[in-house]
Amino acid sequence: MTDNQNNDKNDTQHTYHHLYVCAEIPRYKNDAQALAEHLQVQVIPKMSDAKPDELVLCYGREGLSLSCGRLSMRGDFMTMVSRVREEMWKHEMLVKAAKFKNAEGTLTAIDATAGMGEDSLLLAAAGFQVTLYEYDPVIAALLRDTLRRAKKIPEIREMAGRMKLVEADSIESMGKMLDFVDLIYLDPMFPERQKTGLIKKKFQLLQKLESPCRDEKDLLAAALQVKPKKIVIKRPAKGPYIADEKPDYSIMGKAIRYDCFTLVK
Ligand SMILES: C[S@@+](CC[C@H](N)C(=O)[O-])C[C@H]1O[C@@H](n2cnc3c(N)ncnc32)[C@H](O)[C@@H]1O
Repeated sequence: MTDNQNNDKNDTQHTYHHLYVCAEIPRYKNDAQALAEHLQVQVIPKMSDAKPDELVLCYGREGLSLSCGRLSMRGDFMTMVSRVREEMWKHEMLVKAAKFKNAEGTLTAIDATAGMGEDSLLLAAAGFQVTLYEYDPVIAALLRDTLRRAKKIPEIREMAGRMKLVEADSIESMGKMLDFVDLIYLDPMFPERQKTGLIKKKFQLLQKLESPCRDEKDLLAAALQVKPKKIVIKRPAKGPYIADEKPDYSIMGKAIRYDCFTLVK
């Protein structure tokens, strides 16, 4: 178990039915065993030992992946290289939303809903030192492995060094936070469950984790309590404001928008 894994699961206990861990590559046997113990699930000798409707976290040649029947996904920041290189990140809506005028020194950010870490990577590319909170242990395991591999991608290595994963509930952690932070980013939305036929494979698999969805209002309340300089929330373009709180301004895209609360003017 690494320093970043948090054993204190409290009310965020995740129980996985039909989930197994497997190591296709012998050198990952110990990692597979440690992950299975952390998740309190069994190790299976090979992928084909799982039934088609069962989930398997598998250590393979390309890293840790999550599979179910013929669906498979793993995090891979290689797909982000074109968005983060040579200041391409400046054109990202999220980076525009997170921007500070007259910023001095290294800015700090909390991504309270890390998921697969792609938005955090954009913030790290823009120079933020990012702490990523992810409370689902399966998603956290996939993200931890993505970050490990990211350090081997020359275009990503430096920004990945500015990203630190904490496997914990950010609502609880922000409630206890004393350190000053410049930015808190919230992205609580995964595509809706009923649209599985239309959404990407990656989301179809993540939805099978049945992760309990904590209240968005609690996320915003916890973020406000930290008193960062700014809070940015990703929303569906036409979605309601969280907790009916009108932001200071929004950055609009076709499908999504970023609601920005500037707490220190
Ligand atoms: C829509 S996804 C975020 C996607 C992310 N922005 C990205 O770029 O991949 C939301 C994630 O937040 C996690 N999450 C939701 N509430 C959380 C909380 N209170 N603490 C930590 N993680 C949380 C969920 O498990 C899920 O993985």
